[in-house]
Amino acid sequence: MRPSKAKDHHAALPPPPGRPHASRQTSTPGADPHLTGPAACPGSGPEDDPPVPFLPDVSDLRALDDDAPAAVGRLLDELLAARTAQAATLDPVFAHDLAERVARFTLDGGKRTRSQFVWWALRACGGKGRAAAAALRVGAALELIQTCALVHDDVMDGSRLRRGRPALHADVEVQYAGTAPSPQGARFGEAAAILAGDLALAWADDVLADTELAPDTARRVRGLWSAMRMEMVAGQYLDVQGQITSSRSSARAIRAACLKSALYSVERPLALGAALAGADAATTTALCSAGRCVGIAFQLRDDLHDVFGSPGRTGKPSGCDIRSGKPTYLVAVAQARAEAAGDHRALAVLRRSLGRADLSEAGLAGVRGVLVATGARETVEARIDRLVGQGLRHLDTAELETDGRRRLRELLHSAAGAPPDGRPSCGSPGTADGLPRAEDGPPGSLLLTAGAEGATR
Ligand code: IPE
Ligand code: MG
Ligand code: MG
Ligand code: MG
Repeated sequence: MRPSKAKDHHAALPPPPGRPHASRQTSTPGADPHLTGPAACPGSGPEDDPPVPFLPDVSDLRALDDDAPAAVGRLLDELLAARTAQAATLDPVFAHDLAERVARFTLDGGKRTRSQFVWWALRACGGKGRAAAAALRVGAALELIQTCALVHDDVMDGSRLRRGRPALHADVEVQYAGTAPSPQGARFGEAAAILAGDLALAWADDVLADTELAPDTARRVRGLWSAMRMEMVAGQYLDVQGQITSSRSSARAIRAACLKSALYSVERPLALGAALAGADAATTTALCSAGRCVGIAFQLRDDLHDVFGSPGRTGKPSGCDIRSGKPTYLVAVAQARAEAAGDHRALAVLRRSLGRADLSEAGLAGVRGVLVATGARETVEARIDRLVGQGLRHLDTAELETDGRRRLRELLHSAAGAPPDGRPSCGSPGTADGLPRAEDGPPGSLLLTAGAEGATR
């Protein structure tokens, strides 16, 4: 089955084929097909298949400019059809339960934000030809990284809804509900999702590794890629570690938002596009600084949506961050404001609600009230505005092609959930408000710094 054709993520999965890849099998009558398939036979496994390069056609750059997400989608279609076919040669259950789920998740959902950032950074820096083909491949690899990030994130956050559908671990749990009673079924679903995320990450790495690049470009791209992977893991760890230790530090919350989200979602994709186009250091730095500011704004918007958004629009449960006690900037600001004002009632609400998995809807409404009354919500909104404004001013300092600059502006705006023609508030590029610049160095130095709906993933 070509997973790209499966438009409905909910659709009941067809039963896995009874035997692995029958057409290629050299089985002995009566033998267990699981022991006689190609994978069980050294020297005849999928590693013998010649790699298919999947070099996208970039002869019509204008057409690609008109719909880069569709071009990345077509490439993912081909890449994932090959991968799922390869998975089927290993084992039909693995292919059906995991490989096809990873493919469907990657093909069916998301806004292709990261691949659009790569594309438009490339185009804004004058990239074309072979570099453009590479940008589509890097974009596809980023979409797979996103699959890994979200599938694992939903396990870590105990979130059962993603893009308006069951999260992957919940979906597997339901598939086996008849055979695996809870809590084993839930644990099994999570185990499957860990493996599915690993698979997506492995495929992402493969796509990148199979992308032909000039030696200097390859070195830069590999460096950015490996930094990005580690940053995301670091950020996710800070997120769950802050949850268990009830961290209420706003500086730490911003740092985690940067590491877990801003870098892999915005800054690194822009840097990858710039690297593929062979952009100079000044241009790359300006793009990265813009990406870091807007990337943090993107996560702050996501945090607001989690509390104030509706699942119908975000495709995710509402109040998850509150019930799990996430160390968000929003909550850190509310706590700091309540402490500064000696607002014991607000402090009591936060104390008894944050991290309470069984918090009622009324309890959640109480927390929303505190977030509004302390001014935390407004403060976060204002910070998002400032970050977007600052990011756009960084963009303005870069020497870019006109159309590419315009498209990047629009993308940066919408990533942070800001209206496309919204006017940024105050601040200037640089150190105003202690906000981060890419030239401040790697995210380690951030210790110094304090769709549907726009920022949904
Ligand atoms: C997830 O952050 C960041 C990564 C996937 C690396 P969140 O946990 O806030 O994302 P959502 O709200 O579940 O989409
Ligand atoms: Mg989450
Ligand atoms: Mg999370
Ligand atoms: Mg979130």
